[in-house]
Amino acid sequence: MKVVVTTKIPRVGIDVLEDAGFEVVGNPTERLLTGQELKDFVKGADAIYCLILDHITKEVIEAAGENLKIIANFGVGFDNIDMEAAKKRGILITNTPSELSAQAVAEFTVALIFTVLKRIVEGDEFNRKGHFGGWKPEIFLGENLEGKTLGIVGLGQIGSLVAKIVQSLGLRVIYNKRNRNVEAEKKLGIEYMTLENLLREADIVSLHVPLTKETEYLINSERLRMMKKGAYLINTSRGKIVDEAALVEALRSGHIKGAGLDVYEYEPAVNPELCGLPNVVLTPHIASSVRDVRDEMAIMAAKNIVAALDGKEPANLVNK
Ligand code: DGY
Repeated sequence: MKVVVTTKIPRVGIDVLEDAGFEVVGNPTERLLTGQELKDFVKGADAIYCLILDHITKEVIEAAGENLKIIANFGVGFDNIDMEAAKKRGILITNTPSELSAQAVAEFTVALIFTVLKRIVEGDEFNRKGHFGGWKPEIFLGENLEGKTLGIVGLGQIGSLVAKIVQSLGLRVIYNKRNRNVEAEKKLGIEYMTLENLLREADIVSLHVPLTKETEYLINSERLRMMKKGAYLINTSRGKIVDEAALVEALRSGHIKGAGLDVYEYEPAVNPELCGLPNVVLTPHIASSVRDVRDEMAIMAAKNIVAALDGKEPANLVNK
């Protein structure tokens, strides 16, 4: 059985596949494969082991041929896969959700909130450029979190962990979710709001929804305008949830005071207009980048393939 692995992954994942006796073919380049390269690369595969930035389109699925049984995504989100095309062919799709990775993303989100509100990156740059001429009372004035309202959009595993982590910071936490979760409200001391009300009330809005047809461009110019003047936006979910052009405008006008982004609309491209703004912290999709998390993800995806090629149901099947 042939397993194609589209990108360099932690060795522990390859070990699982090799121990199962599969022929493992890796991407010979150090970069993401282009659409055509991906189509050539997957030919004859029984399993595709891919990353969230590989666009597994209908064409790629067709190019793989009849043997293809599973597409195992190294990542929690799986918006990069044409689910309809996979379904038509009866191909299994798996992902790699875990408490450890949710914790990593939640911690990173809170770190981004601090970084943006305390202007840590701007201060660091200033120092490195040799501009620090001595302590002054009014340089890089930041904000305290205490007393502010944090709006969590999407109260899944990550959103709930963010609410838990910030519990001692004196923030009021409000949230929006498709289905209200009264139990979580009691446990975490948070309040449910409609999305519109949340946007109007929150000083900091943090996005934790998956990318779907419903959430694509959820934060557009109209919704940015609904946000409080001087509010902050944090996104560690998926780039396409935010209309970046509208965000750039809102940041320029000062309506949105700052943003912390780990994900981008046209990833891996980072909007040059965002790069030109001092009030934005831009990280390269590293929210879950922790050694243990990455090893765990690599093993999970590999085990999903082992199960599927053994005729069993993989543990992280997302298209039952
Ligand atoms: C995921 O798992 O979906 C993250 O965005 C990548 O670490």
